[in-house]
Amino acid sequence: GLKIVTIGGGSSYSPELIEGFIKRSETLPVRELWLVDIEAGKEKLDIITDLAKRMVRRVNANIEIHSTLNRREALKNADFVTTQFRVGQLDARKKDEIIPAKYGILGQETNGPGGMFKALRTIPVLIDIIHDCQELCPDAWIISFTNPAGLNAEAVLRYTGWKKFIGLCNSPTVIVHRIGRLMNLDPKQLRVDFAGLNHMVFGLHTYYQGQDISKQVIDALAAYNDGKTYEERFDTLPYTPAFLHELNCIPSPYLRYYFYKDIMLQHAIKEAENGCCRAQVVKRIEQELFANYADPALDVKPKELEQRGGAYYSDAACSLIDSIYNDRGDIQVVNTLNNGGCASFAADEVVEISSVITKEGPRPITVGRLPDQVEGLCRHIKSFEKLTAKAAIEGNRETALFALTMNPLVQDEALAKALLEELMEAHREYLPQF
Ligand code: NAD
Ligand code: G6P
Ligand code: MN
Repeated sequence: GLKIVTIGGGSSYSPELIEGFIKRSETLPVRELWLVDIEAGKEKLDIITDLAKRMVRRVNANIEIHSTLNRREALKNADFVTTQFRVGQLDARKKDEIIPAKYGILGQETNGPGGMFKALRTIPVLIDIIHDCQELCPDAWIISFTNPAGLNAEAVLRYTGWKKFIGLCNSPTVIVHRIGRLMNLDPKQLRVDFAGLNHMVFGLHTYYQGQDISKQVIDALAAYNDGKTYEERFDTLPYTPAFLHELNCIPSPYLRYYFYKDIMLQHAIKEAENGCCRAQVVKRIEQELFANYADPALDVKPKELEQRGGAYYSDAACSLIDSIYNDRGDIQVVNTLNNGGCASFAADEVVEISSVITKEGPRPITVGRLPDQVEGLCRHIKSFEKLTAKAAIEGNRETALFALTMNPLVQDEALAKALLEELMEAHREYLPQF
């Protein structure tokens, strides 16, 4: 049987993961699931652990649930390690979102200055985890959901010798489901070939039962009308028909932070003025969720989890583990070394790309160059990611300043300097390398 270790086990997403393993128990013999957290997350971890045990008991699944604050104890002989932790918890995210807004800049937890500082806090922890794995479970696969998922994978694959590391995001799955709904097509029969970077990924071609329907998909996205203005659609589809037709591929939802940055910024500033931000909203959702999870009568994943952005995460993580373990050779979207998949990137750069998944891991499909419409932006962000990874590993402030200066949401050295200093100070306790 398999031993799975989940780092950040107290996350509200854990019940999805457990549901995913239960659903696959016929083909994926998970025997032990170890949920790992830290002292600050103990209360959440305990609630999740009890719920997990009830979920397993309900269906009589043969999965032992363990929970611990001792990561090394958990990692011994693990087969798969998943990560879903948040260094500094939601208070750190709040700073990532609120502080840049004061400077008239979008913070955002995965793009821009927010994403950069999330990476600077996260990468040292990932490096420690890799060291533990090298010693305690050298053959394990690490499947990492922790954001910024692509940038973190870039740091690990470039700067450590560890090869079996895959970054994972739910948004490609969300996109496929959205297209299915929009066009009234079964999402399972849809194949979208994705390439680009995490949160900057593009659906280049779409096939339905083998037929190329790429043009129809763009038309359907452009025709989308829910009665709202584009400004009001900031959290769904703010793209105009003209923009979509010229773009001519399916945009990541995160494209809105670059091409509709004023709408997004005004929204962030308005929230910040009211002392609010997405981190605060998530805190409230979490409080309700955990009150719910603690109910001893609850023994399934509650529907309310869908209010969180990570929907379909368990499907992505469990499918990936299933395909590696069972050597399936199906196609899934992952963050991995490009190795010739997309001609816009070097072999040793991490990309988010549709890949064939076997027991050897992901092998990117061949997609050629990205279209002119998006290639430049993707290259730009790749440079930002590589410089941020370098700064995070070396603890180099000058490199960090340069990375922040060139971020498409900043692009001004004086502004970057002031912002960097304030964020460095605000996050000091989680930035041991600086
Ligand atoms: P959360 O705030 O609930 O954090 C999860 C747990 O991590 C908490 O219980 C916390 O105590 C724990 N933690 C913090 N530092 C830790 C450490 N050093 N070691 C072990 N555990 C630690 O976070 P969440 O909202 O559930 O999200 C978890 C992570 O998943 C975040 O990094 C988030 O950005 C990411 N995420 C990724 C995607 C994606 O598409 N890849 C989608 C949603 C969330
Ligand atoms: C999306 C993204 C994630 C992101 C999440 C935020 O699904 O793919 O990478 O972290 O949403 O969700 P939240 O509920 O935390 O705002
Ligand atoms: Mn994501």
